[in-house]
Parts: sequence; structure tokens; C-alpha cells
Amino acid sequence: MIVTKTRTLVADYSKLPVRAGYAVKIDDKEIALFKVTNGKVYGIENRSPHPKGGVLTEGLVSGEYVFCPVYDWKISLSDGKVQAPDEGQVKTYQVEVEGDNVYIIS
Ligand code: FES
Repeated sequence: MIVTKTRTLVADYSKLPVRAGYAVKIDDKEIALFKVTNGKVYGIENRSPHPKGGVLTEGLVSGEYVFCPVYDWKISLSDGKVQAPDEGQVKTYQVEVEGDNVYIIS
């Protein structure tokens, strides 16, 4: 079976804020983009895995982690894993940057 991936242009790299979230939508999925200090861009589902489901673009970014604005869970931007002592995981998306174009591969 051949699985085809879709590359969707979602943002201008130069307009992404550093160390802050930026929400984009693909179909019905809301994705949070985060440009970290080293310039890398991560894409994760824009919902905390906690039952309260905080919006992660409103969280605080530190290094390669975002802290959920509701109960402060620490979530890895690279693999989506919630750090101990809490647990859970958010979906991560592959991001590609080409010039000023930021794409999500899904
Ligand atoms: S909503 Fe509770 S930690 Fe995010």
C-alpha cells in the first residue's frame, strides 16, 4: 500500500514568534507551531492531554518544552511526551521549513 503524505503550507517562517505558540488549522485539526530559540520549528496538537485540555499555544515555552497554561504540565515539543510526574502524550507533526515557507507534513 502506498501512503501519500500531504505537505500543507501553514505559515511564514519570519512571522513566527520565537518562544511563543502560533495556532494553525489543517482541516479540523488545530496545530500549535513553536519556534524555539535555536530557530527550529515544532508542530504539536494544540490541546493538553490533561482532561481539562488547555490550549498549548497559550503556554510558556522553555527550551524544547511547553508548559500547559492550565496545570503547568511540561510537554516535550519534539516527541509530545508529558514529563514526569505527570503522564500523557500529544500528537506531534512533522514540520518542514523551506526558505520562508513552513509546511506541515501529514
Ligand atoms: S489542561 Fe491540565 S495540564 Fe494542560
